Amino acid sequence: MSLLTRRRLLRRAALSATAAGAARTGLAGTTAAGIAAPTVALGGCDSPPERTTDPEPDRGLRFPDGFVWGAATSAYQIEGAAKEDGRGESVWDTFSHTPGRIRNGDTGDVAADHYHRYAQDLDLMRDLGLHSYRFSISWPRIQADGSGRPNQRGLDFYRRLVDGLHERDIAPMATLFHWDLPQALQDAGGWENRDTAERFAEYADVVFRALGDRVPVWLTINEPKTVVQNGYIWGHHAPGIRDEGAAYLVAHHLQLAHGLAVQALRASGGTGRIGPALNLHPCYPADDSPESAAATRLYDGYENRLYLDSTFKGAYPQDVLDDLGPDSRMVRGVRDGDLKIISSPVDLLAVQYYTPIYVTGDGGMVRKWPTSEAEWQQIYPEGMYDILTRVTRDYGRVPITITENGLPCPDVPGPDGNVDDAGRVTFLRDHFAAAHRAIGDGVPLESYHVWSLLDNFEWAEGYEQRWGLVYVDYASQRRVLKRSAHWYRDVIRRNGL
Ligand code: FCB
Repeated sequence: MSLLTRRRLLRRAALSATAAGAARTGLAGTTAAGIAAPTVALGGCDSPPERTTDPEPDRGLRFPDGFVWGAATSAYQIEGAAKEDGRGESVWDTFSHTPGRIRNGDTGDVAADHYHRYAQDLDLMRDLGLHSYRFSISWPRIQADGSGRPNQRGLDFYRRLVDGLHERDIAPMATLFHWDLPQALQDAGGWENRDTAERFAEYADVVFRALGDRVPVWLTINEPKTVVQNGYIWGHHAPGIRDEGAAYLVAHHLQLAHGLAVQALRASGGTGRIGPALNLHPCYPADDSPESAAATRLYDGYENRLYLDSTFKGAYPQDVLDDLGPDSRMVRGVRDGDLKIISSPVDLLAVQYYTPIYVTGDGGMVRKWPTSEAEWQQIYPEGMYDILTRVTRDYGRVPITITENGLPCPDVPGPDGNVDDAGRVTFLRDHFAAAHRAIGDGVPLESYHVWSLLDNFEWAEGYEQRWGLVYVDYASQRRVLKRSAHWYRDVIRRNGL
């Protein structure tokens, strides 16, 4: 494949495929060529038939006993309190305060004010009946400059949060890195600098020693691919760099950081389980041509196998390495022993599924299904089934947790104060059903976390997109359970649909 084609391929991948960002790239409004839109409503935000169905009928679909239902958030997106209790600056503080980077000039300075309102949010989780809560730990709260002596006040906050979860019988699931790299480390080269992976392992060790007795499940790096594509190829996410060569070296260092953190947990004597959190995209050819099949295969390499193969097979996929070329910064940056570290045995795989990708023979992408408010998100519940069964087929029976799945809806409280997000109910129901079918076909899926518990700061989209089960009125910080939250409580209660 020519360099030109590869560049186009990467460009499209960055623009249209990444769970965290393409709509934020200004692609909104482009229509896919070639493939007709389906005639059925597939659980977008405006699927009118569902509005009349209340309550949802019991479909008799039960999940296995002990199946764990949860919801997810991340630190920068909800916490606020950006300058409190010794927190340092992260790349997202810098990025969001740079004019023109975020829609409406929004920042995470206050966000959903969760840092101050966490007790109330814990009560909400209990009222919903959540079994598990996936949150992330802000590295600059623990080490303001990304290294050295930990900040006790930062650790105390997460200790209070974790204790509060246990008091309410909710299992904590903590992500170590959800994109908020300390700015001081960025100034020293960020993820292009191999040392950052070492700093990450030290930070992870601090966190394991402080909270290891209370956190049963750890996730290392959230969506390395989004950092690579949105942060370093297209620059729509922090740190806002546009350099493909750097991007794949960053991919390697993120993978290395993951492996070092796994080793750090084992070395700390921690009993918790640990794994990566990967956004996986099922890739399909847009047509029957051999060219589309070949391009789809390579897309799959960049989207999925780069991360899965290195973690579970101890090797980067050869087609991706060939495509990058022997002189690429990434290929030159891989040292002896790195892949052994990266493939340190994990206990589980966290899958985040939002959208499929359809690839044309020339390495372009087309849209086949209706999108949500996030233009990059085609609504295709079958993709959930396909990606789960594929992972189990190709990588063995590693336990799987879904740590993100959801959609943004134009939620507004009605005159009665209620938020009727019927489209989210339809979307989740169809994706839950797909996951249920995957379990029936042998996928060891143990839990499902909806993205997100609360409306929050959606990166380059600021506060415009609302992804929560719970509506946040940012002016008053009042929380309102949306219709989907009430519905989800029933799903949890009956352990199914
Ligand atoms: C994922 C991110 C998460 C959120 C959702 C919509 O890619 O991990 O923080 O932005 O997309």
